[in-house]
Amino acid sequence: MTTFTAIRGDETPLIEVDAAKRLSKIDPMTYGGFTEHMGRCIYGGIYDPGNPLSDSNGFRKDVVDALRELDVPVIRYPGGNFCATYHWQDGIGPRDKRPSRPELAWLGTETNQFGTDEFMAWLSVLSEGLPDGKRVEPYMCLNMGTGTLDEALAWVEYCNGTRDTYYANLRRANGHPEPYRVKYWALGNEVWGPWQIEQMTAEDYAKKAFQWTKALRLLDPDIVLILCGQDGTASWDHTVLQACVPVVDMHSIHVYTAAGTSHIKNVTAPLAAERAIRITASLIELARIERNVPVTKPPTKICFDEWNVWDPERAPGDKGAEETYTLSDALAVAVWLNVFVRQSRYIGMANIAQTVNVISPLMTTKDGIVKQSTWWPLLLFSKYMRGWTVATHVRAGAYGGETQPVWLQGTLEDGAPWLDVSASVDEQGYVSLAVVNISETEDFDAEVKGAVGKDISVYTVNASQVTATNTEGKQEVSLAESTWDGEATYKFPKHSFTILRWKS
Ligand code: AHR
Repeated sequence: MTTFTAIRGDETPLIEVDAAKRLSKIDPMTYGGFTEHMGRCIYGGIYDPGNPLSDSNGFRKDVVDALRELDVPVIRYPGGNFCATYHWQDGIGPRDKRPSRPELAWLGTETNQFGTDEFMAWLSVLSEGLPDGKRVEPYMCLNMGTGTLDEALAWVEYCNGTRDTYYANLRRANGHPEPYRVKYWALGNEVWGPWQIEQMTAEDYAKKAFQWTKALRLLDPDIVLILCGQDGTASWDHTVLQACVPVVDMHSIHVYTAAGTSHIKNVTAPLAAERAIRITASLIELARIERNVPVTKPPTKICFDEWNVWDPERAPGDKGAEETYTLSDALAVAVWLNVFVRQSRYIGMANIAQTVNVISPLMTTKDGIVKQSTWWPLLLFSKYMRGWTVATHVRAGAYGGETQPVWLQGTLEDGAPWLDVSASVDEQGYVSLAVVNISETEDFDAEVKGAVGKDISVYTVNASQVTATNTEGKQEVSLAESTWDGEATYKFPKHSFTILRWKS
């Protein structure tokens, strides 16, 4: 958590980090990904047979290398909205026998050349080189649109069955003798949305999710079931939690932020997600109290399984949602990640939407990859913001103007601090302080209390202006590494993201 005192413009800002005050564990699953059958995410993103950059499975090696660098712990699949009409059995078995189907979420054609077995094979490749017992975890989203409970049970059996039963044997017949041990399963996706096939009312969904949970657990008691929430601030969240909190393990919420050309609204927008996390945590607590959930049931965490900067008008879903991210967007992503670290007590998983090409920090071209501006904060957080969130206090000036969403302004009593901050300490005692200077015009010299040593590592993401982008052959937004002697104040440059790192 970070507390905040607003100061006058002529006072010196101060950031105090108390590494001895560990507040909550940062779940490694916070740095999760998401691959959907949408645009060029799967086809042309992770799977590109025939391309010289792909391996013998057709998996893009440059994408695999990049995701290994990010140390992605879990990947959600196969959607998203795509799930609502996806029949997983279309995507298994001999490729030449798999049907092509009209795809109704993004209005394309699904060839089913990539399905469950290819996804699991891709995760195995991604997991190569990880220490024993560690792998990139699959997280599957069930079809609660046109799909049936029978189909969902069959999918769990196909993935996890160990007995001599039909779908477990089908997996074996398809060349996969060992169960995939898929632990994480989502009970549908955005079932509340008017764009969703078989959209439901909260009451209808809650009834169905409760019954599906019962059946799925009878089949496999070890799975983690994730309820479909809305954005954490909706009555949908309240209703479905009240009905299902006794039986589910996590509650999913989705938020995308964007604010047109306004840099300041863009970078403050993720603070609405912080509010949503706090509200969701309260709704969960309330539901647990009212439903008499036994204290022995582990905390119901939030699974923030879609988050990012996305303006669907700028990058429409049915046109592949390929955003070109600016420095401003990279700073918004850094604020998003600060939010997750500050609120780590409540976060069981978070998945940036998406992992490749579709609203993604990573783009493929025919000849290679492009790391967009938003790649850098994601990489730095995944590398350094690990372990525990530690107590931090900020004294700084603040932005008090209009926000996107509009309601956010009213909830920020003292405004949004110009320096948006989180801090962590890891197992080895390294303290990392993440600071986003959200101002487009002002550098801030700040005292950093609690920073230790004369050789503090500094990682800075910046560019000459907030509209800077990284595209093929052009890298305007980059990472600079340096050190700071810890003397006097540290200058956080305008529109920048900085991590200061020292040994406590
Ligand atoms: O990530 C893109 C889309 O955004 C997902 O398919 C959907 O769940 C959300 O609306």
